[in-house]
Amino acid sequence: MNWPEFWEQSRIFDTFMSTSTKVFANRASIVLQIDANSIVLDIGCGPGYLEEYWLPRVKKIVAADTSRRYVQICRQKFNTDEQVKVFALAKDRFTDFTFLGEERFTHIIFLSVLQYYPDLDHVKQSVLQASRYLLPGGKILLADLPDKSTLFADMGSFLLTAWRGRFLIRALGLLWRCRFSSYHQTRQNTRVLDFDRQTMDDLFADTGACLTWLEEPLTTNPARQNLLIQLP
Ligand SMILES: C[S@@+](CC[C@H](N)C(=O)[O-])C[C@H]1O[C@@H](n2cnc3c(N)ncnc32)[C@H](O)[C@@H]1O
Repeated sequence: MNWPEFWEQSRIFDTFMSTSTKVFANRASIVLQIDANSIVLDIGCGPGYLEEYWLPRVKKIVAADTSRRYVQICRQKFNTDEQVKVFALAKDRFTDFTFLGEERFTHIIFLSVLQYYPDLDHVKQSVLQASRYLLPGGKILLADLPDKSTLFADMGSFLLTAWRGRFLIRALGLLWRCRFSSYHQTRQNTRVLDFDRQTMDDLFADTGACLTWLEEPLTTNPARQNLLIQLP
């Protein structure tokens, strides 16, 4: 199984994401100054939790994902909300955002999604293609980026946050289920990408982009990195 197939079939993260994405939604709305004028593009929206949490706070939110299952869930969830639009990304052309037409955004979010891309060239291409739909002064946030050097710290800090946030049992249950699920098998067959700071700085060096690594944690995994990008 590869990652696109995994996200099409597995439900293992569906419930837990409601907790983890809520943490992100609250923290990121402060850092990004999300308000009633914000127009957000959420790439890799999953079951639409960010849309749920930010809907009362923003002007509009456009959600896109390669998983037909998640796109269907989002379409059902928001079928009466004019503020939310949902698009299916083509699995073989997921860096193509031309379907957005004249839409323009104050914020573009990639939350817990870029690690499932095939390589860093696709990450760069996706960010640059998406950036064409930013309003002047708009920002792109790459959130929850794992770094291989912090694999154990990653796990440890996640459990610590879960303990502090009183969802330790659910977090342990999730890790246990992951170990014996198609997630573990898929990770063994298909790697997830790592994002160390230097590699990312080098990747965007020729674009003139301003990269800001956020020091405060935005997700339930404080060891993960969060990168704010502004293009000239
Ligand atoms: C861990 S979930 C995160 C969902 C959501 N961002 C959240 O945090 O609540 C990863 C999501 O990325 C999507 N995804 C994986 N590869 C993608 C790609 N190349 N383009 C867009 N979405 C992708 C999956 O279908 C899945 O919905």
